Amino acid sequence: MDWYKEALYVREQTIKNNELFANSLPMIASENILSPLCKEMLISDFHGRYAEGTPGNRYYEGCEFFDKVELKAIELAKKLFRCEYADVRPTAGTTANMAVLKALIKPGETATVLDTADGAHISFGKWGAAGVRGINLVFYPFRDEEMNIDVDGAIKVIKETKPKLALFGQSVFLFPTPLKELAEAAHDVGAYVVYDAAHVLGLIGAGYFQDPLREGADVMTGSTHKTLPGPQGGVILSNHKGDREEDKKFLRRLNFGVFPGVTSSYHLHHVAAKAIAFAEHLAFGKEYAKQTIKNAQKLGQALYERGLDVFGEKLGFTKSHQLLVRIGEGKGKEASQLLYRAGIITNMNMIPGDKDPLNPSGIRLGTQELTRIGMKESEMEVVADFMKRVLIDREDPKKIREEIKEFRKDYQKVHYCFHEGFDGYAYHKLV
Ligand SMILES: Cc1ncc(COP(=O)(O)O)c(C=O)c1O
Repeated sequence: MDWYKEALYVREQTIKNNELFANSLPMIASENILSPLCKEMLISDFHGRYAEGTPGNRYYEGCEFFDKVELKAIELAKKLFRCEYADVRPTAGTTANMAVLKALIKPGETATVLDTADGAHISFGKWGAAGVRGINLVFYPFRDEEMNIDVDGAIKVIKETKPKLALFGQSVFLFPTPLKELAEAAHDVGAYVVYDAAHVLGLIGAGYFQDPLREGADVMTGSTHKTLPGPQGGVILSNHKGDREEDKKFLRRLNFGVFPGVTSSYHLHHVAAKAIAFAEHLAFGKEYAKQTIKNAQKLGQALYERGLDVFGEKLGFTKSHQLLVRIGEGKGKEASQLLYRAGIITNMNMIPGDKDPLNPSGIRLGTQELTRIGMKESEMEVVADFMKRVLIDREDPKKIREEIKEFRKDYQKVHYCFHEGFDGYAYHKLV
């Protein structure tokens, strides 16, 4: 066996993947591309090093410079999210959720949560982190027409259930959670409120969507690579100060949930890239988040006008980077595959009422990456045209793929970052 050939095979697939995304319309709502400075951190020597513990208090030597990086990442995260406590160690949004569940709830205890068919992430479902922790889950009712939690119904559930944790936040997240009233009800029965901001973290950091830590959330978790366009990773944020004994205990539990709870090495190169992403978002996030939301609203309107069944029409389609489109019963997969053949990368998605995640009835779209490569409202009209031609007119996807490749030529650079204008999809060849 020629092992070098095997290695080069993998490299070739990686290069092809770069080309695929450079020539398509990447619209998966949980993805994004890195700035050049963030990218540089990922090939630094921090990769593969260990720094168990906290800055200045390590199990390993050699952390002198990493301590400075982690302290800076924490400081920038606190500034960006206007909060008192930040933990930048979780290696993913799911890891952040696992750490919080480990810290704040015991097996057999109850948490209230949205159903996955109504938009909750699997980490709060019985097959995900919540199931691994052995938590009993009770669901909030949902209002399909508003694509949001039924507040009165949910308050009733919280009062009757008296959960240990009230969990909020969604993977399909079109409109802000009415958190104030729900958090008040949860606190009244002694529950902690956890808000999973994985998708909307960048919007919240920029001051859009909603402000969970001031609306009653005790803890906010998030992914650092979706609307916050940093490296893959997670973060835990809180406004508990640690100045009272009870608060100190609370933060110690959170800290212990992350390490030794769910991390050992926590991917130091990603922490360095997170720090840079936070700085870039402090500098450019407002403009970026605003344009991302404007683009999503424009795309929703444009698709609707072209005959697609976009959710949330009466409410302006969305207040985030996402759109949800009803395709037809069990037809989501076929639609996403057809779009993919035309060079439009999306995902099939459950819509309210769906039971089978493998045969859902909708697709989910996100505008965060198209915005990052410089697209604005007028480009959303062009994108809507392409989608209509695939899904309604049933034009040959191959032909549209060629047109999209041509269209994409003008949108290859990363925006809203330092060193703006670098090619966002270039593959840096070493050999
Ligand atoms: C609401 C929500 N929470 C958590 C996650 C998990 O994030 P990660 O992929 O960073 O583990 C996701 C992923 O999309 C999500 O949508």
